[in-house]
Amino acid sequence: MNNMTISLRFPENDDFAFTEAIKTLRTNIQFSGSRVKNIIFTSVAPNDGKSRISMMLAKACAESGKKTLFVDADIRKSVTVSRYDISGETVGLSQLLSGQTDYGHVVYGTDIQNLYIVLPGPYSPSPTELFEDVSCEAFFRRVEEDQYDIVIIDTPPLGTVIDAAVLSRFADGIVLVVASEETSRKGIKRVKEQIDRTGVRLLGVVLNKVRMDKGSYYSSYYYGGKYGYGYGYGYGYGYGGNKNDSSKNHKKHHSAERKEN
Ligand SMILES: Nc1ncnc2c1ncn2[C@@H]1O[C@H](COP(=O)(O)OP(=O)(O)OP(=O)(O)O)[C@@H](O)[C@H]1O
Ligand SMILES: [Mg+2]
Repeated sequence: MNNMTISLRFPENDDFAFTEAIKTLRTNIQFSGSRVKNIIFTSVAPNDGKSRISMMLAKACAESGKKTLFVDADIRKSVTVSRYDISGETVGLSQLLSGQTDYGHVVYGTDIQNLYIVLPGPYSPSPTELFEDVSCEAFFRRVEEDQYDIVIIDTPPLGTVIDAAVLSRFADGIVLVVASEETSRKGIKRVKEQIDRTGVRLLGVVLNKVRMDKGSYYSSYYYGGKYGYGYGYGYGYGYGGNKNDSSKNHKKHHSAERKEN
């Protein structure tokens, strides 16, 4: 492990509903089975909330005492370093996979106990090739040797680039993040088919950016009610009170959860 510890500056004003929804997600994932360790987060389109949800989940897992690794595998357009205000010279996945550094340097401890992180490294024009390289296999083998309880892998949108599918050979499960009013049904269907082709289990769908205004479709289902859209099972959360977030939609959102029918 790199001997530098990374401090992550999380937004301080995530509201109660958000935090609860992340805990629900953590619980649901824990019930996916003990062999589900490496989990890919992807979505149909950019901006659906993969990075935020996957990082918050990683933090929640670490806080519950699980040895957790967050791998930022979006080496096209990662926001981790800027979003969490990570300072100092760091190395990441793109450098490891292209032979510029070694495993011992890319895993960082963080100021959150049990939370370890692999940063994406500098932008690479051909991430797919890097993920197909034997060095990627070697990386995940080393990760396995380090015996994490859970490895959360944040990837670019599968509706746009193939990276998540290429990485799926190292995953035990995939979570699809769907932005409630933004993701098209057609897009979901297409990405679901792609996931099916990988042969990796779709663990569930996170329904994000759920509008919870009075009178909206989900409002009467706040906390654990049923909603009639989607497939598989899902859990979602919506916008909370984080005013610093540059979201397009400023309406009040809360979490909604669908139980298996
Ligand atoms: N539930 C939510 N509540 C408030 N803000 C949210 C929520 N989900 C996502 N956002 C905001 O939406 C934006 C996009 O989120 P994020 O970066 O997690 O998406 P992404 O799917 O990883 O995007 P990309 O495809 O570009 O990697 C960010 O500003 C994030 O803070
Ligand atoms: Mg992202």
